Amino acid sequence: MLVNASEMLKKAVAGHYAVGQFNINNLEWTKSVLLTAEEMKAPVILGVSEGAGKYMTGFTTVAAMVAAMDKALGITVPVALHLDHGTYEGAKACVAAGFTSIMFDGSHYPIDENVAKTTELAALAHEHGMSIEAEVGSIGGEEDGVVGMGEVADADECKRIADLGIDFLAAGIGNIHGVYPDNWKGLDFEALARIKDKIGDMPLVLHGGTGIPAEMIQTAISLGVAKINVNTECQLSFAAATRAYVEAGKDKEGKGFDPRKLLAPGAKAIQDTVREKIELFGSAGKA
Ligand code: G3H
Ligand code: ZN
Repeated sequence: MLVNASEMLKKAVAGHYAVGQFNINNLEWTKSVLLTAEEMKAPVILGVSEGAGKYMTGFTTVAAMVAAMDKALGITVPVALHLDHGTYEGAKACVAAGFTSIMFDGSHYPIDENVAKTTELAALAHEHGMSIEAEVGSIGGEEDGVVGMGEVADADECKRIADLGIDFLAAGIGNIHGVYPDNWKGLDFEALARIKDKIGDMPLVLHGGTGIPAEMIQTAISLGVAKINVNTECQLSFAAATRAYVEAGKDKEGKGFDPRKLLAPGAKAIQDTVREKIELFGSAGKA
């Protein structure tokens, strides 16, 4: 059931759990996430970066595929189709394409410009019944060409952006896209507590969900994080399972080269990762 992400995240804040956003790249990814969310009776968010949108031949194709698959699989859990780290232009394109939610990542603009663009896009999203996420501070590392310096968000700036009519807020608190380096200092919970204190019950978003230790996830949820984004971890699982299949020579046995067989272990590995994250985030059975 395609919906915006507003209600599911309000419920998550009230229920002290987080909804997983899993980024999708193709049909196998989408199907794996949808089937696992349904199996777990968990609300879920499908994240689409601008790069992944281009790869899937545009946001209109993605929206059509997701809507058709949601219906054909008989998905009953709430599913939001969300633009991840959107530009101003990308956000407008996703409104037109039929997404149910957008993220406008204006964190690299000076605060006044971030405010102006976020205000305009929040009004546009709400006119179309969509939810909108904004970002303050920046997520370290790189994801699909989006590079961040890992700057910790200022609580007053968070409050200023939160008051623009957005539905949920991503705040940089030392989180990084991709695999965390060995010398990572961990999440800055003091900053998170200051932000939570200023913005009250607005759901907070934790990007860079790959590989964050379970205790840090629990603490983040207790401080108002209600949406956790995971991308790299599914890619790593998919790659490892596919490599194991090929290295075992299974693509050379029978019709093992058939893409429906070749991609099956990777798709199963994505399901296993998504299942594990849904359990960890506490959203199982919350649909
Ligand atoms: O926006 C998506 C993410 O923040 C995912 O981060 O690739 O480190 O899991 P990740
Ligand atoms: Zn992110």
